[in-house]
Amino acid sequence: MCGIVGAVGFISPKEYVFKGLKMLDYRGYDSAGIAYFHSGIKIYKDVGSVEHLLEIVPEDISADIMIGHTRWATHGAPTKLNTHPHLSFNQRICLVHNGVIDNYKEIKKFLLDKHYSFYGETDSEVIANLLEYYYLENNDVIETIKKAMSIIKGSYAITFFTDDIKDTLFVLKNASPLVIGLGKGFNLVASDASPMIEQTDEFIELDDLEFGYITKKEVKIFNKNGDEIKKEPIHKDIELISHDLKGYPHYMIKEIEEIPQTVNRIISNYFQKGKYQFDPELIKDLQESDHIIFIACGTSYHAGLVGGRYFEKYDKSASRFIASEWAFHPTYPGQKPFIIMISQSGETADLIHCLKIIKKHNLKNLIITNTGGSTLDRNCMYSLLLHSGVEVSVASTKAYVAQVTLLAMLAASLDKDIKVVDDLRQSLDVVYDIRDHYKPLIMKVGEEIKDKKSLFFLGRSFDYFLSLEASLKLKEISYIHSEAIPGGELKHGPIALIEKGIPVIVFITDPDTASSMRGNIEEVKTRGARVYTIATKSLSRPEDTIVVEDYAYYLSSVAISSIAFYLAYYVALAKGLNVDKPRNLAKSVTVE
Ligand code: F6R
Repeated sequence: MCGIVGAVGFISPKEYVFKGLKMLDYRGYDSAGIAYFHSGIKIYKDVGSVEHLLEIVPEDISADIMIGHTRWATHGAPTKLNTHPHLSFNQRICLVHNGVIDNYKEIKKFLLDKHYSFYGETDSEVIANLLEYYYLENNDVIETIKKAMSIIKGSYAITFFTDDIKDTLFVLKNASPLVIGLGKGFNLVASDASPMIEQTDEFIELDDLEFGYITKKEVKIFNKNGDEIKKEPIHKDIELISHDLKGYPHYMIKEIEEIPQTVNRIISNYFQKGKYQFDPELIKDLQESDHIIFIACGTSYHAGLVGGRYFEKYDKSASRFIASEWAFHPTYPGQKPFIIMISQSGETADLIHCLKIIKKHNLKNLIITNTGGSTLDRNCMYSLLLHSGVEVSVASTKAYVAQVTLLAMLAASLDKDIKVVDDLRQSLDVVYDIRDHYKPLIMKVGEEIKDKKSLFFLGRSFDYFLSLEASLKLKEISYIHSEAIPGGELKHGPIALIEKGIPVIVFITDPDTASSMRGNIEEVKTRGARVYTIATKSLSRPEDTIVVEDYAYYLSSVAISSIAFYLAYYVALAKGLNVDKPRNLAKSVTVE
């Protein structure tokens, strides 16, 4: 979602800001802009890519301070006027903002009454004007920020400069990440550390309701009362986001094909010399808890569904919740619940909301994330990293498999069950087999379904969880409506939608449910569905579409999820869609 970069005193702010915006573009955006000071405030912005922005910005900018922004529209359509940076009514304040201001309508009304007018529809423009209003009143930026922060409700990471203080960037933050990068003769700011890692490994992270300013020589941070606070810089080694496609046409397919590496890396990180290598305190807390609560969103939630089953296998009761649901109706079954949150990005706002509730109730918690240094990694009690390498494609693939792999091992470690590791290794043979032999067949299925308006995935148990993920992936990047239905649930309603020619994709890999699934196939076939069956060898029939070698059936999400990923990929490709950056979606969902 939205990204911020800013630089003061940097040797070439333009180079840094543009490179930074490019490095943030994995988060997803629909418009981009920059602003700098050179005989007044200069702003260039437009709908479209950072490359397009670069084309409209003059070659020879000289500036001491510069801010940049990539916007993912929330308040107001993706138009040039709504694109950041925003300039206040009297052109005194120039601002970029990530987050959502809950009370912007009230603030706007207050400003309209004071004869302010607005060119766009964003909450961010309102905040630029609120800051200006108080700045005109008191001519003191620190007092202005304090006053504005006492009024603004919602999430914000804001960077701004004024028309009369030409060497300073001001920053303020609540519930949306903002990081300052420390340099010699320059200082930087960004919505996460990744755009700054070529320039520095020393960072100051602002906490909620803190604000401050950076010049090329100094950084000052204040609490909401305006008292200066000393913050120790932290050192971070952050993986540079690789923009190297390594010969692949898209990140999505590159990342699907990194699944075996990802699984092997998790095994070698968390299993050595025949033993699991998890923090003993974490294992003790998990063992002592009487209920595990999984909380996550989207694909990560689907991994949580699978993970819940793994813990149940070792006699832990478990519940699973979608974060945005749990946040507004939190329940804590059991006497000693333990919360497991799952998030590829570690920055998902819905989950950060949940974490606040979890902390308020002093509940033990763990985050499973791919992003070291992210908000959830830093703020949860325990953190397990996925070590999957950066996932650039908006559609999550290797991170999902990594989450399931790690959950299988974590649950098994409660019972020192090391067979899981062998099962995981064996499941990789199936992943390789799919990669090496089944892609043309999957592409052919993709061709057949690409013009369909709607389709269904069917499965039971672990195959149902995989169906949910297969369905999400297909709708995300191919824009085909699809639904995942547990086989047994079909006759309770969804079967009404089965008509001649509708594709139904069925997973049959679980010996316990295989015969019921065959019954479901008959039910939909009789009503004219075009059935594609994916089965394991010992459960297969000659008419099945894809038959893979047997594997431990509880690992469907590791062994055969790539079939679903390739299918979504090839359908999107056949439809000429932007595979890595599907419409309306963002990689890091930093607003609730
Ligand atoms: C789907 C996808 C999303 C994310 C969801 C949660 O491909 O990527 O559904 O899984 O937005 O994001 P994280 O895992 O970063 O919390």
